[in-house]
Amino acid sequence: MDAPTAARPTKLAVIGAGSVGVAIAYAALIRGSADAVALYDLDRAKAEAEVLDLAHGLPFLAGKRVEGGDDLRTIAGSDVVVVTAGAKQRPGEPRLALAGRNAEILRRLMPGIREHAPEAIVVLVTNPCDVLTVVAQREGGLDPARVLSSGTVLDSSRLRWRLSELVRVHPRSVHALMIGEHGDSEFPLWSRTTIGPVLVREWREDGELRFDDAALDRIADDVVHAAYRIIEGKGATSSAIGVSTARIVEAILGDEHAVLPVSSVLDGQHGIAGIALSLPTVVGRAGIERVLEVPMEDGELAALHRSADAIAASLAGIA
Ligand code: LAC
Repeated sequence: MDAPTAARPTKLAVIGAGSVGVAIAYAALIRGSADAVALYDLDRAKAEAEVLDLAHGLPFLAGKRVEGGDDLRTIAGSDVVVVTAGAKQRPGEPRLALAGRNAEILRRLMPGIREHAPEAIVVLVTNPCDVLTVVAQREGGLDPARVLSSGTVLDSSRLRWRLSELVRVHPRSVHALMIGEHGDSEFPLWSRTTIGPVLVREWREDGELRFDDAALDRIADDVVHAAYRIIEGKGATSSAIGVSTARIVEAILGDEHAVLPVSSVLDGQHGIAGIALSLPTVVGRAGIERVLEVPMEDGELAALHRSADAIAASLAGIA
């Protein structure tokens, strides 16, 4: 019998050692999303300090290796490159307001990503992540299947948690999606939201329907504005985007064919093309395997097109 060959270790590179990049690196090491994690930042002292701080925990972590610094070559051979570099939202500032500044930073990064990690799947987390997914795909000349963003994976997790709190059911048994822009125009796909197998609109307590339209609108509003609340209190979000992104990395590296609401450049789904936004998507080792054109109610479809219009307007503003 042939000796087992050790599979080549998987490698995740994170560009940007700010609070979000470090949260992603840390979550990936805790969960073992990748065997090795590389952390890059222009600020050498910051990058090296964060790498050292992460490495000191390796005896207790599932990940096997962490490296990094201010030399982009540290991303060499990565299977997934997550981009977090860029300006972050100021209190009350919409994500789309960051488009111009962060598109410039991304344009400067793309040649190095192509050069040092030509085989990598590129995952945008920097905001506005939908707009930057289009910029990365166009500027990087990348196959659209190999560029995606965290999109509304985090927002969908927020919605699942909020509903779970209200009905006292484990979040993993709440199946809910925010779709569209990762931003102010995102919206819940209430028509496909279930608690266990029960449609949320049919969920009853003491024989009475639990959620009328007004209640559902309040829940949606909580989710859309969640990041603003956190930014007011701690300056930026980090923990949940960290673990949400680690989850996406696992679906890719594990070739899971998992359905996640990541954002990718659409090619005609629901009549939308050339714009990136979040729809339920099959994610595996090749990146985007299939964007599910999920049947929607008229109001949901109108909301999706409003999201697409907002992203298109932002793209036009930075062309
Ligand atoms: C948030 C950031 C990642 O929604 O946009 O927390």
